[in-house]
Amino acid sequence: MGRFIIEGGNTLKGEIEISGSKNSALPILASTVLLKGVSVINNCPQISDVFKMIEILRILGCEVEFSKGTVVIDSTNADCCEIPSCISEKMRSSVVFMGAVLGRFNEVITGYPGGCEIGERPIDFHIKAFSKMGVDFEENGCYIRGFGNCFLGTDINLDFPSVGATENIMILGAVSKGITTIYNAAKEPEIVDLQNFLNKAGAKITGGGTDTIYIEGVKELFGTEYNIQRDRIEAGTFMCAVAATGGKAFLKYAKAEDMRQTVLRLSETGCIIKEYNDGIYIKRENILKPVNIIRTEPYPGFPTDMQPQIMSVLTLAKGTSIIIETVFESRFKHILELCKMGADISFNERTAVIKGVPKLKGGFVNCRDLRGGASLIIAGLSASGRTFVDNSVYVERGYENIVEKICLLGGCIKLQK
Ligand code: UD1
Repeated sequence: MGRFIIEGGNTLKGEIEISGSKNSALPILASTVLLKGVSVINNCPQISDVFKMIEILRILGCEVEFSKGTVVIDSTNADCCEIPSCISEKMRSSVVFMGAVLGRFNEVITGYPGGCEIGERPIDFHIKAFSKMGVDFEENGCYIRGFGNCFLGTDINLDFPSVGATENIMILGAVSKGITTIYNAAKEPEIVDLQNFLNKAGAKITGGGTDTIYIEGVKELFGTEYNIQRDRIEAGTFMCAVAATGGKAFLKYAKAEDMRQTVLRLSETGCIIKEYNDGIYIKRENILKPVNIIRTEPYPGFPTDMQPQIMSVLTLAKGTSIIIETVFESRFKHILELCKMGADISFNERTAVIKGVPKLKGGFVNCRDLRGGASLIIAGLSASGRTFVDNSVYVERGYENIVEKICLLGGCIKLQK
């Protein structure tokens, strides 16, 4: 549903403000069901994933208002522990409600989480960790029920530093008895943001941002006010758009230290990048250079969420680049679409070989997932002629005002609903 229509060829120039982080907002919003009283979350992006989280909060009985980037959640009358499958299957992040709802009601009933089709995306780490904390589970093929009387802190060693599992354990651990220690925890900046939020609400969590997180359980958490950090993936996406179109821009509030690999790799392509306290400046002057092998990895490695966007840039480099996707299988769906626009990319399940071409050409392409959709927009902006990007809904899941921001930078794009 929905279609972006892009007139390619304009270089992006100017200044935009980076929005609040989607991947911080989602777990923070979910955890508010556990907080007594009223929470105020500022800097929340107006994107469809956030709207769906708010819908779930309302189903659980919370009163929620969302205006001008501020979400006010009153969880006082929350009385429901069930997330219907028709909602949970619309987004992967519904899974982070499990810890919060269990912590609040000692029970959760939820349909399986959905989200972008970028791989199997099982939830076995979540279930295994919760089981170790004393949660019992029943499943009937459509729904999972988790329940228990008392949840106990314990040592949890994640097989892979899963972002969602780390967040879920932090949230339930915050109100469990005793100390929960997460080994091989995810280290993403969004984990630190969640830790800071929960601590402001009364939790006792340390170690966020390192691979070991300690959570000393407390009896209760209380509503608080919090400003969500800026979205490093949105910032990286705009950096790629500037690089691909040969422009220059200042991205206000982008924080280079949280996106070191993206900054380094775009520097390798020949872009000039300057870091300031209040943002990042990027300029591309010369022909783009290819880069050494990029492997996507958990933070602080190169983010899988930036893989499709940097691929669009590399389709225009003078030479051959290689990208290896190690985090998700099936995260190459944008490649066939980029090839429709004249890109020269060969790939197998995990490895893509990108031979740069002088120019892409406009075409008819399809979004298959959020970041893949962003990569097609970048390609369309740099291409000659007009590009029609179908299924804009995927992009609207995660980019606030993307059309307005691109237009502000001089790009020519509109959204046909
Ligand atoms: C989060 C991000 C997403 C990002 C991803 C990896 C949010 C809302 N989403 O997703 O944008 O692409 O981190 O940086 O923050 N896995 C299992 N079993 C599990 C859980 C995960 O096998 O129980 C696997 C996944 O299939 C995947 C890998 O672990 O291959 C990483 O997944 P995970 O870090 O959990 O990603 P999400 O939290 O879903």
